[in-house]
Amino acid sequence: MVAVTDDKLVMRDLSVYYGGFQALSSIDLSIPAGAATAVIGGSGAGKSSLLRSLCRMNELWDDVRTEGQVLLDGQDIYSPGVDVTEVRRRVGLIARHPYPFPKSIFDNVAYGPRVHGIRHRHELDEIVKRSLKQAGLWNEVKGRLQDSALSLSPGQKASLCIARALAVQPEVLLIDDPAYNLDPVSVAKIEDVILELKQQYTLVLATNSMQQAGRVSDYIAFLSEGFLVEFGPTSDVFARPKDRRTEDYITGRFS
Ligand SMILES: Nc1ncnc2c1ncn2[C@@H]1O[C@H](COP(=O)(O)OP(=O)(O)OP(=O)(O)O)[C@@H](O)[C@H]1O
Ligand SMILES: [Mg+2]
Repeated sequence: MVAVTDDKLVMRDLSVYYGGFQALSSIDLSIPAGAATAVIGGSGAGKSSLLRSLCRMNELWDDVRTEGQVLLDGQDIYSPGVDVTEVRRRVGLIARHPYPFPKSIFDNVAYGPRVHGIRHRHELDEIVKRSLKQAGLWNEVKGRLQDSALSLSPGQKASLCIARALAVQPEVLLIDDPAYNLDPVSVAKIEDVILELKQQYTLVLATNSMQQAGRVSDYIAFLSEGFLVEFGPTSDVFARPKDRRTEDYITGRFS
């Protein structure tokens, strides 16, 4: 029988340089489909760089060089002729500072679908409703969709940015530091949404919180100084880390 791979994204010998500085070093990592993978590691380990490299967002900076391959369903997203807009639709990134556009709640969520040519009001209404529901925000905002998104609380803004990413029907969601600067209630809400979303999407989360990684992820990738040290099911990595550096990190000894 031919082996079927369930990996949604496969990094092969992936390196990222900012000018002369190498932020990721020869990463070989496969992200399982339909599960949540947490990328953990200290500040500067390369977590955000890794997430951005999965949707060609590193290229937004000058002087960035990416080497190696990132296969999305077996196709290298860095090969010539690839439609970058389509890659970014299929692989959505929710950045650490999720800023809504200075537009209404409705227009924020409808933004992506409109860019992709959806014009009918009825269709947009449906997409906005579905996306806000999936992001756990619908009940709070359904009576005020025309209000400015900037009037929302920080936790609601983070949820809105998840809804905005969902509106273009991505296949993969990359969420950079979902707990960043949020109160514990908002964090718990977003983690509940993440647990729901992973039933349907492939998720990759960058997080500095071991507790969060333990609560929401199925797999863990541990990065240190741009290198992938360890990858495995979350329960295995927590219970029996293979590498001393992983053990030190998850037990809080940063030697
Ligand atoms: N645009 C950039 N230009 C130059 N260097 C960068 C850039 N982005 C990141 N770096 C450097 O690359 C390394 C990895 O950064 P990255 O932001 O990926 O780490 P991180 O693991 O996400 O850290 P944090 O937990 O603080 O978010 C760091 O040394 C950082 O200073
Ligand atoms: Mg980061």
